Amino acid sequence: AAPAVQATGTREPETASPAAAPAATPCPLRIPGKPGAASIGDRYFPGAGNGGYDATRYRVALRFTPAGHEVDATVTMTATATQALSSFHLDFRGPRILDVKVDGMPAAFVRKGGELVVTPAGGLAAGKPFTSVVRYSGTPAATRDGELGTYGWVRSGDGAVVVAEPDGAPNWFPVNDHPSDKALYDFSVTVPKALQVVANGVPDTPVTKAGWTTYGWHERTPMASYLATVAIGKFAVKRGKIGDLPVITAVDPRFKKSLNSLHKTTIKALVWEQKLFGRYPFRSAGGIIDDPKLDYALETQSRPVYAGFAPDADFVVHELAHQWFGDSVSLRRWQDIWLNEGFATYAEWLWHERGPKTAGRDSAKKIFKRYYRQPPNSPIFNPPPGAPGRKALFSFSVYIRGAMTLQALRQRVGDKAFFKILRTWATGRRGGNATTADFIALSERISGRQLDKLFTVWLTRKGKPKKGSW
Ligand code: ARG
Ligand code: ZN
Repeated sequence: AAPAVQATGTREPETASPAAAPAATPCPLRIPGKPGAASIGDRYFPGAGNGGYDATRYRVALRFTPAGHEVDATVTMTATATQALSSFHLDFRGPRILDVKVDGMPAAFVRKGGELVVTPAGGLAAGKPFTSVVRYSGTPAATRDGELGTYGWVRSGDGAVVVAEPDGAPNWFPVNDHPSDKALYDFSVTVPKALQVVANGVPDTPVTKAGWTTYGWHERTPMASYLATVAIGKFAVKRGKIGDLPVITAVDPRFKKSLNSLHKTTIKALVWEQKLFGRYPFRSAGGIIDDPKLDYALETQSRPVYAGFAPDADFVVHELAHQWFGDSVSLRRWQDIWLNEGFATYAEWLWHERGPKTAGRDSAKKIFKRYYRQPPNSPIFNPPPGAPGRKALFSFSVYIRGAMTLQALRQRVGDKAFFKILRTWATGRRGGNATTADFIALSERISGRQLDKLFTVWLTRKGKPKKGSW
C-alpha cells in the first residue's frame, strides 16, 4: 500500500488507532461491499469527488486560535451509500487528522495525496444513510496555483477567509468535493470574543462563554462545496431586508467606508436580477469584503466574498448573478464553466443595457460589437470557452466569449425567446445541476430553432468566429 502522506501541516504519518486497524481478520458482522471510487469522474479534476455515496449535509465545527493560527475541527458528513461499501473516499488536503468515526464507531483511515480513505469497521449497506466524523487539528493552507491563483483557506490580517473555487474545499474540510454533490451546511465557529465570524446562510445569535464566542451559520439550500465559506476576523456589519429576505453585509474594518455602498448596491442588484431571472434562490443574501488582496471575488452562496477590494456595481451584479447561474443551477462538470462565467458576465452587460441609468446605457449588442472588433488572436477569443482546459478555467474567453455566445443566441432567437430561455434555465433547473447540452436543448425547445451550429462555432471553434459562420 502507498504510504500515508500529509498534504499540508505537520509531516508525521497518520494511521488509525490499533483498535480500528484494517480488518485483516474479517469481522463476522461485516456487510459485504466494495471500495467506493476515488473520483467522481470529472476530466478536469480527476482527483475531485468520490463514488459510492451521496453527501446530504455537512456540519463544520471549528475552533480558531489566532496565536499560531490553529484550527481544531470536527467535521460531520451525513451521506447515503449508493452501493454496499467496504470503504469510501473523502477529498482532504488539510492538517493532521486526530480520528475518524463512522456511525459512532472508530474507523480505520489512511491518506494518499488528496484522498482520505475511510474503512468503517462494519462496512456500509447500499441505500442506507451513514455519518462520518473527522477531527483534525492544525493550520489549513491556501493552494497557490500558477494558473488559478491563490484559493482555499486564505489568511487575512486578523483571521482567515475561505474562497475555494474550483477545488479548494478539501483544504479545510473532508468533503465529496464536486458541484454535482450539493449538500446542506451548518457552521459552528468558536473564536476569541474580540473576533467575529461570517459564513453562508442564516446566523444564530452568537454565544459568548469564558472569553470565546461561538457563531452558528446555516445554509439551508443545497450548496456546492467550493461555495462554502467562513470569514474570521473583525467586521463592520450592516443588516437589512428585501421583503422577507435578510441581507447581511460585512466588511473588514479597512473597508469600513464601503459598507453602506456595498449593502445598497447588493439590494439594488438583487431586486433588479429577480425581475430578469426569477425569484432569488436562497434564504439569505449579502456580501463580505475581506482584506487578503486576491483581486477576485467568489460567488460564495448567499453572500459573495470580495477579496481585497471594494467592488463596483458591475462586480456586484456579476457575483449576484452567479447566485442563479452557478450556485442554484450548478455545473455537472467543470468543463462547462462558461455556464457560470459567461452568464454572470452577460448579466453585467444587461445591467448596462437595462439597469439603473447610473450603470450607463450601452446595449449588450454594442458591448458585443466592441469586443468583436478585437483581433482573432486576442485572449478574449482563445481558448474556446466550451472546452477551455483546467488551467484556463477563469480566462477572459470563458467570461467574454462566453457572454458573446449568449448575445449571438439572443440575436438569433429574438428578445422574447431569449429572456424566456434565461429565466426558464434558472427556474426550471433551480437547485440542480446541468450541462451545456442541457442549455442547448432548452434553447432549441423554447426558440423552435436548430442551434447546434451557433453553439459549436461560439463555444468550441478556435480563434474568432467568422461573420456568417453561425
Ligand atoms: N467565480 C469567480 C468569479 O468570476 C472567480 C473565481 C476565480 N478563482 C480562482 N481560483 N482564480 O466571480
Ligand atoms: Zn464569475
